[in-house]
Amino acid sequence: VKRLVVLVSGSGSNLQALLDEIATEGAEAYGARIVAVGADRAGIEGLARAERAGVPTFVCRVKDYGTREEWDAALAETVAAHRPDLVVSAGFMKIVGKEFLARYGGRFVNTHPALLPSFPGAHGVRDALAYGVRVTGCTVHFVDDGVDTGPIIAQGVVEVRDEDDESALHERIKEVERRLLVEVVGRLARHGHRIEGRKVVIQ
Ligand code: GAR
Repeated sequence: VKRLVVLVSGSGSNLQALLDEIATEGAEAYGARIVAVGADRAGIEGLARAERAGVPTFVCRVKDYGTREEWDAALAETVAAHRPDLVVSAGFMKIVGKEFLARYGGRFVNTHPALLPSFPGAHGVRDALAYGVRVTGCTVHFVDDGVDTGPIIAQGVVEVRDEDDESALHERIKEVERRLLVEVVGRLARHGHRIEGRKVVIQ
């Protein structure tokens, strides 16, 4: 059973989907369990969800460190203490640095609410809507040193409706995203993977 650390910054509904799947399926069958949930801020629903599920939590705030590099190193250390096989960014709204990637590059998964490489960054849903695309969706990918540029593992498609605003569209994306993330993390955990250039091969 693989060990997962999940990083969150907000409501944590993707984290909840993982917690629910593991509770329903059992960690053995799913292939992984969540050993800790970390956040870059305190008092968020994502942390409360972890606590309700009995999962240890930690908070690593940028403002508690002198530099961004020190924060990144502290985050890497704190995550490492939980000895994860995979780290999942589920709505974690911080860009990690060199130290973190040196340790977890190739096994750090992010979910993004747009069809990458379109609309990377913090406002994927808003930017897609503003551009006027008729289809968008979500992308589960490995994190590299760019912003949402790493190798793509899986994508899900969502049609834009005329009456959509950012929040309505984001909610429909998140329904697809939660299922996709649960499916992808389970496959990675059960089968293992390798990354060949931009291609992710799940064994
Ligand atoms: C998700 O839609 C995720 O893709 C997005 O934040 C949401 C978190 O929802 N992440 C980003 O935009 C990263 N740039 P949740 O807290 O309910 O899981």
